[in-house]
Amino acid sequence: MKENLLTIAITGKGGVGKTAITTLMVKIITQSHKYKMLLIDADPTHPHLCSMVKIAPDKSLEEIRLNAVKNAHRKSEDTQKLAERIDFDVYEGMAESKDFCLFSIGQPEGPGCFCPSNTLLRKVLESISKDFDLILIDCEAGLEQINRMVLKSVDYIIIVTDISLRSIETANSIRKSAKKFTSYKKLGVIVNKVKGNIEIIHKKLDELNLPIIGQIPDDQNITNYDLEGKPLIEILDSSPSLIEMKKIVKKILN
Ligand SMILES: Nc1ncnc2c1ncn2[C@@H]1O[C@H](COP(=O)(O)OP(=O)(O)OP(=O)(O)O)[C@@H](O)[C@H]1O
Ligand SMILES: [Mg+2]
Repeated sequence: MKENLLTIAITGKGGVGKTAITTLMVKIITQSHKYKMLLIDADPTHPHLCSMVKIAPDKSLEEIRLNAVKNAHRKSEDTQKLAERIDFDVYEGMAESKDFCLFSIGQPEGPGCFCPSNTLLRKVLESISKDFDLILIDCEAGLEQINRMVLKSVDYIIIVTDISLRSIETANSIRKSAKKFTSYKKLGVIVNKVKGNIEIIHKKLDELNLPIIGQIPDDQNITNYDLEGKPLIEILDSSPSLIEMKKIVKKILN
């Protein structure tokens, strides 16, 4: 496979389980050994993907950007040279395991705006996607990265909800923004932390015409891994959440 097959953004309201869902997807996809995969921890405030998949890059994209800017100022480099340096340095910031590579967007130092690091992320996505078959982006909660066109070039937008109506309202807003600011080809909802009767949730999703890709149960194993500080990527194959994720991945990649 030479061309990038699919770039997937995992979005949704805060705390619904975006990072857990991304990690379960990674675990299932790596079991097939079929894809060269890049993960992007795009959450600057809660960068939990690294610990859930048990790998951390030496430098975040934000650190790389700041270093490049400092060096360019010292050497009075022009913007063209600065851009080339960042392109090169970005690869140095990539963590590699036998199953996947990972970038982390990182947090701006002190008070400041996330715009420069989000802009770099958009450029990184545009320039390196061809080197990978699959890219999974664990996004910041809410609409910001969609509205700022960071996710402009993604193919598939997955919106994670839990079993609250508010998470579905956020899902609806995300879809509205995604229609305006991205060129996605597919979009669907994964309902997470499912327990009990969720007829109301199905009705609401149906009313809003939000398609469901699948459901992940509220899983005691996920809770235990979190409480024990264990990386979720090592969750047991027999876990109910992982069994459901296998069906979802099959749908997404077919
Ligand atoms: N299916 C599940 N069953 C049980 N617990 C879950 C499940 N999915 C996620 N959790 C728990 O919910 C909490 C939030 O999960 P996670 O960090 O993945 O959410 P998030 O959407 O990425 O949050 P943020 O918006 O802060 O990035 C964690 O404690 C996680 O262990
Ligand atoms: Mg998260």
